[in-house]
Amino acid sequence: MSAIAVQVKRLGPWFHNLHLPDGTQTAPEHTLGDFPNFKWVEIEPYIPFDISGLTVLDVGCNAGFYSIELARRGAMVTAIDIDPHYLNQAKWAASLYGLDHRITFHQMQLYDLAHQGRVYDLVWFMGVFYHLRYPLLALDIISRITRNMMVFQSLLMPGRENHTPRREMDLFERGVMLRQSWPTMAFIEHRLDGDPTNWWAPNHTAIQAMLRTCGFRVHKRPSKETYICLRTAEKIPKEDLRELEYRAATGR
Ligand SMILES: C[S@@+](CC[C@H](N)C(=O)[O-])C[C@H]1O[C@@H](n2cnc3c(N)ncnc32)[C@H](O)[C@@H]1O
Repeated sequence: MSAIAVQVKRLGPWFHNLHLPDGTQTAPEHTLGDFPNFKWVEIEPYIPFDISGLTVLDVGCNAGFYSIELARRGAMVTAIDIDPHYLNQAKWAASLYGLDHRITFHQMQLYDLAHQGRVYDLVWFMGVFYHLRYPLLALDIISRITRNMMVFQSLLMPGRENHTPRREMDLFERGVMLRQSWPTMAFIEHRLDGDPTNWWAPNHTAIQAMLRTCGFRVHKRPSKETYICLRTAEKIPKEDLRELEYRAATGR
């Protein structure tokens, strides 16, 4: 066994199947296939090949697959995760690629980003939203620290996608909420796929609506669960109830 293969074993188990510079793969038997490479292949055509000079935030970076790809395109990446096990994998892999000078890792809660005082050109927010107890707060925080683009992915709840948002409704019309296309987020009290942190499964129309209320518009949808979003110019006035609630929730 090569020294790299020994280290891969020592740092396991892996969720990201990284293809390391010597050809070793970290999770070749992944149940989802070559994950997340097959997702990256769908998204990468929408990311400029040269993003030198841009700042990127990778939220829930895991073993750093996306951080590494984005740093390879020239970005300066800040990568955060709550789990030291995954951060150790990511730091080791980044150094193997010679990219540790371009990626800074922090063990950190997403919610603490509200207090960092930094804004990023591109925010990578994949595979984390549905793991959060406070998903809309998270999206509000992410919105405030995104300068241009956010790449978003969530587990989806199945449903129809042809929904026209209603501007006004009265109390007795609530039956329309039973339609399959109504923006809906299923709450998962116990485990989904053995994971007790899978709290939510939003449908597509709920994702679109939540993104809108948090200051994003969907620019492209490279796959069913992946959204490339642009920050809209909307500025929430200081006295707006949304802003007051945000400040109370984040202690800002
Ligand atoms: C399903 S994995 C997704 C990993 C990667 N973003 C991807 O799309 O392949 C979720 C990751 O988010 C991290 N995570 C979960 N909750 C978090 C939180 N509140 N703050 C920061 N990271 C979190 C987990 O430790 C895990 O590495």
